[in-house]
Amino acid sequence: MLVVHTIAALRAALPVPGTCAFVPTMGNLHDGHLALVRQAASHGLPVVASIFVNRLQFAPHEDFERYPRTLERDCELLQPAGCNIVFAPDEHELYPERQTFKVQPDPTLADILEGHFRPGFFTGVSTIVMKLFNAAQPRVALFGKKDYQQLMVIRRMTQQFALPIVIEAAETSRAEDGLALSSRNGYLSAVERAKAVELSQALRTLAVRFGDGVAPLEVLEAQALDALAAQGWQPDYLTVRRRHDLSTPGDDERKGAWVALGAARLGATRLIDNIEFSA
Ligand code: PAF
Repeated sequence: MLVVHTIAALRAALPVPGTCAFVPTMGNLHDGHLALVRQAASHGLPVVASIFVNRLQFAPHEDFERYPRTLERDCELLQPAGCNIVFAPDEHELYPERQTFKVQPDPTLADILEGHFRPGFFTGVSTIVMKLFNAAQPRVALFGKKDYQQLMVIRRMTQQFALPIVIEAAETSRAEDGLALSSRNGYLSAVERAKAVELSQALRTLAVRFGDGVAPLEVLEAQALDALAAQGWQPDYLTVRRRHDLSTPGDDERKGAWVALGAARLGATRLIDNIEFSA
């Protein structure tokens, strides 16, 4: 496995565009990332994984500084998963000057849910992903459904800019108790870790109650927020949206392909999760 730190070295290793399968990450890898790498390897192309903690997608009060940087351990995990090239640039390589040109995603998709609670987040994500795509020039790029809205933003960006890249989704990897794997789970204390699955349980309950049509969605959302808050969480949102564009269901609309999405803070750690379901 080759480890490169510059765009020039990555391009030298992959001189023909459209010849790799790409997994962008911020490092501190867990089994969910490794599942993405294994799925990437199934394309029979060289697999490139990037590791870069992207300052542009963190607000000043967020965890950019304390986000774990574990390059050596990440490389040890990537090789047996089938990764061929690790692209691990430093900040100066990707942001040699202040990034004043940015990718501005469609606000109807990017200013809701995560984008509402983390203003500018999807501009930061879209900008770095565009830059990473330009560096790796992949044929296929893989994103986890755990970051559901991110996957949709990247899909739409790729489509609208006519990038010659197939965006492939991977199912969320979960721990035995059902907690979605995330690098941020490492911030949880033992007590918080034991409670962390309550977010996905709340989303399941919301999905069932929505499907059963027991009350209007606003009422179900408010009840779900109250129930999670009573368990000691500080929820940002718990909602049900249309799967294909994250728009809100109409009054009394129940039949369809939905996703229940949520974000909530447990102590100092903010977790997100989602569950696809049909009614
Ligand atoms: O999902 C992530 O880890 C990041 O948002 C990504 C896509 C690597 C961009 O920094």
